[in-house]
Amino acid sequence: MRFLPAVLVTAFLLGGRGNLSPAADLSALAAEPGTEEDYQGLPPGPGREEVFSLCQACHSLKTVLQQRLSREVWDETLVWMIEEQGMPELDPEDYARILDYLGSRLSPEASN
Ligand code: HEC
Repeated sequence: MRFLPAVLVTAFLLGGRGNLSPAADLSALAAEPGTEEDYQGLPPGPGREEVFSLCQACHSLKTVLQQRLSREVWDETLVWMIEEQGMPELDPEDYARILDYLGSRLSPEASN
């Protein structure tokens, strides 16, 4: 029963932008398997796939999603994950991408 609400939310979000009809939303969902529900509520943006695969290796994404932190505190959290919790060290590029994602999409100001 998790699928239906995700579809409705997605249809609402797409419809809210006013650039797709509801029929087009559903065909887009059918054509593309990697849709919103696969990300368990992570908002779209560069870095989402990295966060999705990396962070749930050890805990639920809810642990991540329930937080609304500033970029600075996300930075501290990532260092804490690496130094104390056994998260693998990341390339500087990956680190920056993940931090940019968390600091913008899951910031206190984020609207999602
Ligand atoms: C190698 C395992 C591992 C990985 C990978 C990992 N974490 Fe964690 N994380 C933990 C553990 C263990 C805890 C619980 C620590 C505690 O509460 O003592 C935790 C807790 C957290 C918390 C909760 C902090 C709090 O205040 O309760 C956040 C937020 C978090 N992780 C974010 C992330 C993010 C974001 C990623 C991906 C970039 C990530 N974690 C990847 C092991 C991991």
